[in-house]
Amino acid sequence: MNQPHVRPLKLGVIGDPIAHSKSPVMHEAALRESGIAGEYAALHIKPERLADMIAAVREEEYRGINVTIPHKENVMRHLDELSEDARRIGAVNTIINEGGRLIGRNTDGIGYVRSLKEEAAAMLEGRRIVVLGAGGAARGIIYALAAEAPERIVLLNRTTERAEALAREWSDLADIAALPADRAAEALQSADIVINTTSVGMHPHVDEVPLDPALLRGGEIVSDLIYNPLETKLLRLARDKGCRVHGGLGMFVYQGAYAFEYWTGVPAPVEAMRAAVLRDMNVAAKPK
Ligand code: ATR
Repeated sequence: MNQPHVRPLKLGVIGDPIAHSKSPVMHEAALRESGIAGEYAALHIKPERLADMIAAVREEEYRGINVTIPHKENVMRHLDELSEDARRIGAVNTIINEGGRLIGRNTDGIGYVRSLKEEAAAMLEGRRIVVLGAGGAARGIIYALAAEAPERIVLLNRTTERAEALAREWSDLADIAALPADRAAEALQSADIVINTTSVGMHPHVDEVPLDPALLRGGEIVSDLIYNPLETKLLRLARDKGCRVHGGLGMFVYQGAYAFEYWTGVPAPVEAMRAAVLRDMNVAAKPK
């Protein structure tokens, strides 16, 4: 049915660089699948143009914007309102334009947890979780994990002080502890779920692992935020040991799914979104 009074939804992602972002193909597939008229643009924005771009988001009536590296922290000061999780995580990846009022949210952590629960661990309550890394990606994930009432979250990071600072900052949210990397064996001995949030193992450094695989027992779930490659060396070795493995593609899909749902108010067509990303990755991987 024609709906001439409904204006096409204007969406996009800002980042620098942005050319390789899979968000446009994923969201355009979601719009198509949902029968919503609109477009999703990849917007290459250098840091010095960020303020102007945010003004344009308001004036040009973008309904929603995703924010990626290097703007996730700096964009916050240009917004009118922040969700509690974005404020505490200290990063925004999704902006919703409510009639000229820009609201910043963070869907990375909740997207990750939804993916983990759908694809690997239906219940996180009472689980013992080990998180490798304590950087920006770890913050979103740990904040969302804490809301699931795990028994304990142990942070292992190359720079122990950074993990300790994070454990202190969020001691009100859950039982969170930091251990120096040389006590990894102790942490892993009783882990139910091990999550890599570092970039170790990401393309092109596909032969690197963020953890000595000999420390895995075989019954735990091993999860990696990396989705290029789809299965990291850590996941391959963990699978060989009998662990259940969970890759990073689902996190990317579900962070986008939450954003799509905030913008449109309709359930995201998650499988169409995942298929569009996979198709695009295969096309990109094929030699010309
Ligand atoms: P991101 O936003 O991707 O998390 P980040 O904030 O720079 O990026 O954090 C990167 C994380 O990966 C950190 O935990 C970092 O450890 P340090 O805090 O010690 O820097 C970790 N990391 C990156 N490269 C690493 C490597 N080669 N070995 C171990 N840890 C690494």
